[in-house]
Amino acid sequence: MEREPIGVIGAGYVGLVTAAGFAELGHEVWARDIVPEKVEALRRGEVPIHEPGLSELIRGTSERLHFTTEMPDVLERARLLFVCVDTPPTYSGDADLSRVEAVLAELGDSSEHALVMKSTVPVGTGRSIQRRRDGIGYVSNPEFLKEGSAVEDFMKPDRVVVGANGGSEEYADRVAALYEPLGAEIVRTDVASAEMIKLASNAFLATKISFINEIANVSEELGADALEVARGMGLDDRIGPKFLQPGVGFGGSCFPKDVQALKQLAGNTGYHFQLLTAVIEVNELQKRRTISKLQKHLGPLAGKEIALLGVAFKPNTDDVREATSLVLAGRLAGEGANVRAYDPVTGHKAEGMLAGAAIADSALEAIDGADAAVLVTEWPEFAELDWTGEVKRRMRVPLVVDGRNFLDRDALVEAGFTYEGIGR
Ligand code: UDX
Repeated sequence: MEREPIGVIGAGYVGLVTAAGFAELGHEVWARDIVPEKVEALRRGEVPIHEPGLSELIRGTSERLHFTTEMPDVLERARLLFVCVDTPPTYSGDADLSRVEAVLAELGDSSEHALVMKSTVPVGTGRSIQRRRDGIGYVSNPEFLKEGSAVEDFMKPDRVVVGANGGSEEYADRVAALYEPLGAEIVRTDVASAEMIKLASNAFLATKISFINEIANVSEELGADALEVARGMGLDDRIGPKFLQPGVGFGGSCFPKDVQALKQLAGNTGYHFQLLTAVIEVNELQKRRTISKLQKHLGPLAGKEIALLGVAFKPNTDDVREATSLVLAGRLAGEGANVRAYDPVTGHKAEGMLAGAAIADSALEAIDGADAAVLVTEWPEFAELDWTGEVKRRMRVPLVVDGRNFLDRDALVEAGFTYEGIGR
């Protein structure tokens, strides 16, 4: 295998997994981040994020994996620069490309380097960069990593997308070659299509979730069980079983932002993307439905003690971006409820984001004296709690809203709990 020195710009979730992944495949990797404390920690082998397997991978590849704050360290050694900087949403829903622009500025007018864009950018970004920087090498190589299983996703991708136009084909060949050992299908295409594959994939998955959430809401009214419905639907292999779990809505750093960005991009061309407008609206309403479920049993929530189980937007991550817990804490505070939240990983990091909610040090502490427990994130330890014993004894009212259909409903009901799932 050809060894290619690799530059990675931005050592966040995507950058760290990409850098460590390529180092694992045998390449020398120079990863650059502008935050000195982060780089120092990484050099000591301390990984600033919670991502299963990542610390081990970074420590195991330390001979080939170098961290720096200095762009020239990277530019001197690598020609392919994997851009993994944040592209957060702006208030208007467009992506904020200022960090990508900063990388471009640092690159100057180098014609020896190629940008390999992993960050999610609006369709058309690549073409516009190439137009402004005549002759710059540019490859679109969107990431499809899921937080919580990002290392595995890097090593065993469903597909790898490599997009390039005209003059950059040679760089695209080199990028594709890097992924060859992984054995996945490599989709070679033009830059705009590669950019669209990323946004369309996430928008489609988000649509699946909003769809099943609406089926769940209607099932509750009509007496069907949405889990049974999803099982029956998922066996049709045109539909598939994945991303058909009804819940308290999707969150995270990607889905909400990417759906919004695609809708906005369409809007900028004068096209109203009706479906995505609904996907977003359904998700916002879904995040709030828990409140009416609580009110149904407790009446007005003022003065009620509510335990929020889970703060992270999903298990196996410490990421709280766009998490449903944040919306729920805000709504509950608005209703005058007292909220105690517990998450096994985010811990006190979430303090201040949860509208004044107290952060408990254990699930039992959160539950103690509660009028209701709301399961927001399906962390395995929540299923292992002694619900019918200790938990039941500690709660003032044995009411559970299981926002992920994660707990043993029958056991809870048998033990005298009032159980509210999603869609059942
Ligand atoms: C997602 C994409 O899966 C990934 O390919 C892309 O690169 C980044 O965005 P991630 O944000 O890590 O990854 O989370 P994911 O596991 O996809 O879940 C997103 C959200 O959807 C979570 O809040 C999850 O709880 C929710 N979800 C997922 C459901 O509500 N129901 C489901 O059936 C699946």
